[in-house]
Amino acid sequence: MLPDFPLFLAPMAGVTDSVFRQLCKAEGADVLTTEFVSAEGILHRNERTREMVDFDPAIERPVGVQLFGAEPERLAEAARAVVEWVQPDFIDLNFGCPVNKVVSKNGGSSLLRDCPLLEAVARAVVRACAPLGVPVTAKIRIGWDEHSINAVRVGRLLEECGIVRLAVHGRTKAQGYTGEADWSVIGEVAEALRIPVIGNGDLSTVEEVAHRRRTTRVSGVMIGRGAMTAPWLFGDIRRHFATGEIPPPRPLPEVWAFILRHARLHLEARRGSARAKLAAKDPRSFEHSALASLRARLMAYSRGLPDGRHLRGRFSQVSSVAELEDLAGQHLAAQAEGRALEAEAVPLETGS
Ligand SMILES: Cc1cc2nc3c(=O)[nH]c(=O)nc-3n(C[C@H](O)[C@H](O)[C@H](O)COP(=O)(O)O)c2cc1C
Repeated sequence: MLPDFPLFLAPMAGVTDSVFRQLCKAEGADVLTTEFVSAEGILHRNERTREMVDFDPAIERPVGVQLFGAEPERLAEAARAVVEWVQPDFIDLNFGCPVNKVVSKNGGSSLLRDCPLLEAVARAVVRACAPLGVPVTAKIRIGWDEHSINAVRVGRLLEECGIVRLAVHGRTKAQGYTGEADWSVIGEVAEALRIPVIGNGDLSTVEEVAHRRRTTRVSGVMIGRGAMTAPWLFGDIRRHFATGEIPPPRPLPEVWAFILRHARLHLEARRGSARAKLAAKDPRSFEHSALASLRARLMAYSRGLPDGRHLRGRFSQVSSVAELEDLAGQHLAAQAEGRALEAEAVPLETGS
């Protein structure tokens, strides 16, 4: 049972893996979605795809698996396969991805300019999932470009097809991630549809979420990049709804405790994954590559931290959890003394 005005973690490729979803859930996100996976990857039983749709059922529910593709029957088959594999709470259809690799194969946001195909995809997947008791949701952008904004029309069509909830990112495909999300169009979609409409785009503070809740009829919000910098935003928003207070910024030691927890869980998850064979061969290079794959995530955290510029320089050199712990100590000490962080890492005492 979802709370009034649920908070969704936005699906983000390379970001919303199982570890990050669990962390966001613990911080107050109500609904989680995997990053998008291709119908073809599912149907080829590709091992990497299998990892992408896996989740911990004890922690991550409700969770949806997001699919993209352009062939209705292949998507329907992939949706059935996913339900059989992992029993998600819902299947989400991606009609918003602007990336060329996806769009050139008629997937993602490309379907916004081919409504008959979009309708065929939605109907096929709803038909495949209905007997399995799994609802289908969708995520769209507001249109292909500024001359073809059609989110209300697309939303109505999806509603008719049996889509049970619609997330709307307030940008066009042409915008990519530039400019601003157009919340007036999101508001129009929310007014026009009977199914819940979830607003998405540029929400990174409690105040912004409260403002959109007040001024549109969205049933909930979805947060992406704001959660990459401050995953505790979900809990802060919930607290604001309950008390009217604007929670103070997270104290720096708590932020560091969060980042270190993320790094340790990331390493642990990698050890348990298909890449674990490498870990057995060479634990140091395994940890190095695990930390390297977390670098973009550390950079996102640095945006919310003091002395972010120096921190980013240091994050780019970190190759073990021990080094990250050491960096946390140095950054906290530098902040307590009111000075900037050293640009170079001091070599760690290994004791051997
Ligand atoms: C790194 C990254 C990866 C993304 N991957 C996906 C994806 O797999 N599926 C999807 O529907 N949207 C994806 N998005 C879009 C987000 O879900 C969201 O719509 C967008 O970032 C706007 O929300 P925000 O302003 O809160 O970040 C991605 C965005 C980013 C930044």
